[in-house]
Amino acid sequence: MTGTLYAISDLHIGYPENREIVTALRPEAPGDWLIVAGDVAETPADVEWALGTLADRYAKVIWAPGNHELWTTAPDPVTLRGALRYEHLVRICRDLQVATPEDPYPVWHGPDGPVAVAPLFVLYDYSFLPTGASTKDEGLDYAYGTGVVCSDEFVLHPDPYPSREAWCHARVEYTERRLAEIGLPTVLVNHFPPVREPTAILHHPEFAMWCGTERTADWHTRFQATAVVYGHLHIPRTTWYDGVRFEEVSLGYPREWRLRDAGPSQPRAILPGRTE
Ligand SMILES: [Fe+2]
Ligand SMILES: [Fe+2]
Repeated sequence: MTGTLYAISDLHIGYPENREIVTALRPEAPGDWLIVAGDVAETPADVEWALGTLADRYAKVIWAPGNHELWTTAPDPVTLRGALRYEHLVRICRDLQVATPEDPYPVWHGPDGPVAVAPLFVLYDYSFLPTGASTKDEGLDYAYGTGVVCSDEFVLHPDPYPSREAWCHARVEYTERRLAEIGLPTVLVNHFPPVREPTAILHHPEFAMWCGTERTADWHTRFQATAVVYGHLHIPRTTWYDGVRFEEVSLGYPREWRLRDAGPSQPRAILPGRTE
């Protein structure tokens, strides 16, 4: 195959400047694929516009949901909550031929052999606790004390699960089963970092509670990851854990990317791969 597997996340197209960036995105070559690792927008209509625009241009688009897609907010005519909202988004993606965590994992055939590109939806379970806290309640007490509380607490509903962590644990079980069946090297794509280490540089360490789960800490080695793609932190960079390349590929909010010397992030090349 000629072409490159690219990745970007956190397009947040509710901001007109970010919508313009998506409007301008084009593949470099006809065989290019694009991973979109969550936080496209808050409304299904905006998600459909962005993924549809990209699916018309790239040979394949692969989507994993972020927390923002799962928000149920007052001005949105789509009032679905939790799992029903996620299923609604999956249906929209399928109509656009965009791969989701519910579909067979697309296989990228590159010079180094076949690699399964696996979009994941595993959410978070408050196990990335701040120092000094030993339970979710203690962690949340601390966060409310500092005023650093993720909006998910108010608009990301876990229905029909009793809690976001219960939804996360069900997703971990489902996803582990599917990943164990692949039998190929993988590119793991998750909105949230599957390991805790990338959250160490957060300005507000307590925000890590909304950033992942300890239950995915060994997935990059257990499931033969060639690379791991994530976003959510709005801190684009490349790091390595256990010899595996982790790519934080977020565009982020205009107020964030305006401060970067390089300007707004462009899609980052993931495969063909490179070694440390
Ligand atoms: Fe984001
Ligand atoms: Fe996010």
